[in-house]
Amino acid sequence: TVLVVDFGAQYAQLIARRVREARVYSEIVPSTMPVAEMLAKNPAAIVLSGGPSSVYAEHAPTVDRALFEAGVPVFGMCYGFQLMATTLGGTVDNTGAREYGRTPLHVSKSGSTLFEGTPDEQSVWMSHGDACSAAPEGFTVTASTDVVPVAAFENDEKKLYGVQYHPEVMHSTHGQQVLEHFLYRGAGLTPDWTTGNVIDEQVAAIRDQVGTKRAICGLSGGVDSAVAAALVQKAIGSQLTCVYVDHGLMRKGETEQVEKDFVAATGVQLKVVDAQERFLAALAGVSDPEEKRKIIGREFIRVFEQAQAEIVAEAPGDQPVEFLVQGTLYPDVVESGGGTGTANIKSHHNVGGLPEDLEFQLIEPLRKLFKDEVRMVGQELGLPDEIVQRQPFPGPGLGIRIVGEVTKDRLDLLREADAIAREELTEAGLDRDIWQCPVVLLADVRSVGVQGDGRTYGHPIVLRPVSSEDAMTADWSRLPYDVLARISTRITNEVADVNRVVLDVTSKPPGTIEWE
Ligand code: XMP
Repeated sequence: TVLVVDFGAQYAQLIARRVREARVYSEIVPSTMPVAEMLAKNPAAIVLSGGPSSVYAEHAPTVDRALFEAGVPVFGMCYGFQLMATTLGGTVDNTGAREYGRTPLHVSKSGSTLFEGTPDEQSVWMSHGDACSAAPEGFTVTASTDVVPVAAFENDEKKLYGVQYHPEVMHSTHGQQVLEHFLYRGAGLTPDWTTGNVIDEQVAAIRDQVGTKRAICGLSGGVDSAVAAALVQKAIGSQLTCVYVDHGLMRKGETEQVEKDFVAATGVQLKVVDAQERFLAALAGVSDPEEKRKIIGREFIRVFEQAQAEIVAEAPGDQPVEFLVQGTLYPDVVESGGGTGTANIKSHHNVGGLPEDLEFQLIEPLRKLFKDEVRMVGQELGLPDEIVQRQPFPGPGLGIRIVGEVTKDRLDLLREADAIAREELTEAGLDRDIWQCPVVLLADVRSVGVQGDGRTYGHPIVLRPVSSEDAMTADWSRLPYDVLARISTRITNEVADVNRVVLDVTSKPPGTIEWE
């Protein structure tokens, strides 16, 4: 394992992903973890991430010198580089000379482990105020910039390396290569970690954990729960039952997809609960977005608990249902400050949160993986592309894409409009270019139109195509006009009561991706 020590910016997750892209397994630990504890994990190498702080700031995070003296190869990046410099006796000055953004780096390759085979001049991404003017004793300076005399240093004997810039961001043109040089040449690691290893490891662990007992898994139709279910199914077969709650807020074809594609690919036992009327009744008269979300979350839990009781009642002599499968991902774990210990089910999860007093032990086979790795695992498990490459869709479904009260008629209308938009985007080959494209019905708004010979007074449909890397921020997608035109024409022609299609051209922030 390579430990990525997180100094408090968003960089650690990206570094951990880059290390895994180099096919070496990595885990993130907080910089507050005592060095002895880090070393007890027996790391093959350690990467110190960047961070928002200056090494001279009050309360700036530090690291015990022992980290550099344990014989474990260390690579410091940005803040991690400066920390390494000051801790080992180099000089870092607050010169006021800032570098931010794309910066030319001058490399001196002779004797360099990090830069071999990369150009003498390369573009790197900088973000710092302080600058290193002298490397610690025993280190060779292997790069500089116009502003910073020491932008990289290396000590091959002690296996300690550092760069002032951010090799993990794509603007650093040879960043991945430099990282791989550290991992393979500096730390002597072999690139042999694959998602295949994860499957084998998890299958064995799940069998061990579950024994002869039974487990259930809520399927939402999304990627994470589908892959988690498939993995557990591979481990324990018929001891797993999947529960799919059809709340009537799904898109066209979604329930059928779960019923057919997923079952066909995995052979899983599936229990489909038709709860459409129950959800509609609960949502009647409600327009407030938060209230809708809470109602949907609550109803979902009730249906799920009922399904679980039925499963037990259907085969009362069988082993008890003691386990609940969750599709929790690594970013969820890191963001909740965890990484160790037993999980609390998080309220932001897919369906609006399961109660904490649920009497289950959790199985979370994806809790070490990033989203793209989950997709790879899904592929390896033989799930079809339609499931694995699926764009995100919110747990509360179309319920939060109708601005106004949710009714059966409005859901049917929105389902039609959404199906047309999806069809045309797929037809135009744009599915991988956009992150997702919510289609929203403004049910409380009407505008005047003219169709055929008559006046219409219908509802607008909003198209909200966005591009994003992680849904935390997003930009509106610049879709080709002819695609937009086709979607607009078809929706106004084919969907009764809709006489206008509008495009949302707001980034996030300030707008969220969903309208509610
Ligand atoms: P927002 O609207 O917050 O959405 O910009 C960010 C991403 O999260 C999805 N989303 C949800 N996913 N349960 C989910 O599983 C939810 O309650 C939920 N609300 C929003 C949204 O589709 C987007 O991808």
